[in-house]
Amino acid sequence: MPSIAPKFSRLWHGADYNPDQWQHDQHVLEDDFRLAQLANVNALSVAIFAWAKLEPTEGRYDFDWLDRTFDRAEKHGIAINLATPSSSPPRWLLKKHPEILQVDKGRVRGEPGCRQRFCHTIPIYREHVARINTALAQRYAKHPALAMWHISNEYHNDCWCDLCVAAWRDWLKARYGTLDNLNVQWWAAFWSNTFSSWDEVHPNWERTGYPNNFNGQVLDWKRFQSHQCTEFMKHEIATLRTHSPNIPVTTNMMGFFPHVDYAKQADVIDYISWDCYPTLGGDMSQVAFAHAYMRGLKSNKPWLLMEQSPSATNWQGHGTLKPPGVLRLWSYQAIAHGSDSAMYFQFRRGLGGSEKYHGAIIEHEGTEKPRVFQEVAALGAELNKLSRHLIGTTVTPARIGILYDTECRWAFEGSQGFSHDKNYVTTIGKHYRALWRQNIPVNLVRTDDDWSQYDILIAPVWYMVKSGTFPHQGSPEQLKTKLNEARKIEAFVNAGGTFVTTYLSGLVNESDLVYPGGYPAPLRKLLGIWAEEIDCHAPGSQPNRMRLVNNFRLGHQTAYDCDRFFDLIHTEGAQVLAVYATNWYAGRPCLTRNTFGKGSAYYLATDADDAFLIDLYAALAAEKRITPLAEQTDGIEVLERVGPDRRLLFILNHTPEDRTLTLKNLRGIDLLTDNSIDGTLDLSPYGLALIAIT
Ligand code: GLA
Ligand code: ZN
Repeated sequence: MPSIAPKFSRLWHGADYNPDQWQHDQHVLEDDFRLAQLANVNALSVAIFAWAKLEPTEGRYDFDWLDRTFDRAEKHGIAINLATPSSSPPRWLLKKHPEILQVDKGRVRGEPGCRQRFCHTIPIYREHVARINTALAQRYAKHPALAMWHISNEYHNDCWCDLCVAAWRDWLKARYGTLDNLNVQWWAAFWSNTFSSWDEVHPNWERTGYPNNFNGQVLDWKRFQSHQCTEFMKHEIATLRTHSPNIPVTTNMMGFFPHVDYAKQADVIDYISWDCYPTLGGDMSQVAFAHAYMRGLKSNKPWLLMEQSPSATNWQGHGTLKPPGVLRLWSYQAIAHGSDSAMYFQFRRGLGGSEKYHGAIIEHEGTEKPRVFQEVAALGAELNKLSRHLIGTTVTPARIGILYDTECRWAFEGSQGFSHDKNYVTTIGKHYRALWRQNIPVNLVRTDDDWSQYDILIAPVWYMVKSGTFPHQGSPEQLKTKLNEARKIEAFVNAGGTFVTTYLSGLVNESDLVYPGGYPAPLRKLLGIWAEEIDCHAPGSQPNRMRLVNNFRLGHQTAYDCDRFFDLIHTEGAQVLAVYATNWYAGRPCLTRNTFGKGSAYYLATDADDAFLIDLYAALAAEKRITPLAEQTDGIEVLERVGPDRRLLFILNHTPEDRTLTLKNLRGIDLLTDNSIDGTLDLSPYGLALIAIT
């Protein structure tokens, strides 16, 4: 697996660096590089919000300060990840063209002074962005310090202006061809919504009083907003490619941020990078889950942890510090999940602005003395030493995958019915945790991925199963996304795969129209069941039990707790493995298995507890001879990176306590201490080991 930037083939350690905020103080700018060296910084993301300093007035560029930054970086062997400044248009541009500012859903146009609030459709903004990007690319493409492009910042789009609405109509015409088709797909006859001409199509549901507030049209608006954002990215990238074809491109993503379909963005960039801000004491399995999601968007190839705070943030509820060791531990967690970097927001705390109290490598005190600086420097030194072992490796290819689809998330969470307590990410995260706790490698998988590496695919609440009907027309690229997901999963099982899905799966198609013919219609044959009704309750108000039957055994338990969602199903060929223990449907099936071709398809009709998921996945993994990387130990996460000639095991202690582990048959060298490991391992609070297996 090649390194992210061949010119700088090492683990990246660095930060967002804002020299544009310090041009009035040359002393600070000079000292930055002395401190960068002391902090073992080898990469800097530069000029992310610097447009006003790069082009103080229209057409008058000032690159002197950036030239100096590049030259200093080169002198110190630091790689530059150069941003395009599109996330923050300068005031002079907004004064001249206030129409660049986005219009919110209440039809109010924004004001200057913010960031990431521009319209992604308006041509004049695209022109200005292409102009500044061209100027940057022409000037720095050949500079030896340029390693990567960081396009914009945390892309997302939420503009409801007339231009966006017009572009949406064009997008809809390509998708549906005719208005008649659109009327059917949007079920527009409902409440007399039928559209008789294209100009009636408008995202006006937010202001309608009693809205028909989730259906195909809302879904298509979300799709379009995300699409427009990706188109804007493509526009930015095209200019850069012209002038610097060999410099890879990334953009910093935001994990489970709900308003963007990151799968589409991933397709237009070279490397995934993302901004990860966990909270101390939070569930670390869900941080792992987010890493796996981000990584999986681009076939699990190496990615970048672009931002994390070295200490507190300015925006979380409480500015909790990272106790000694936590920054190191969380950086290694990302690396263990495939990151080739540990980067921070931010290099130096500014003296003003809303992020002046956000953690930084250099605090307001201004020297290398603070604890945070020392921890950063120590981590950097360690990463320098480890680079040669880690570069070229990547996460162990997982044989278990969990399907994650943003359009499905939108449809599931937006649907009105069943429960107000439907959260796609939390539900998928619960299944992820069951595998994570057992140290079984697992990937998050796109429905349009190649699934051939997987033995087991899990699709919790796979509410929307696309039929591959739309778009009707469109660019070859759009048409390529057409996929009949039901046929694809059937083929997977038929060939010997194991498939697990749950309640509230297979209900709607890509237009959010229910499949007629009994739930889960498109998966009914595969699963060998019919889900006639679903009973939903507030959490904890009507708990039930799943009683294992027909000699089906999992772990030591014969019954497990379940809650909230209770499908009432009939088998149509599937074998019953568990039944409800109580309520008026006691005795009805809640877990089934259907043999289909060479494989099996499981249906879990209820929200089963963690113990059940752990036992089920342990059994299914064992059946496929998938062995965990280590025994399950609470608070300890075990991950592995592999290369052609090496296996590197990460053992992470997420607890604030000393831990001693017994690791059967484990022999190797701890690359952090150079100690030989043979059977037992002592971990300090928030400590870790990185063992090269011998
Ligand atoms: C985001 C942004 C950064 C900064 C940090 C603060 O990730 O990309 O510019 O605002 O948040 O945590
Ligand atoms: Zn707009």
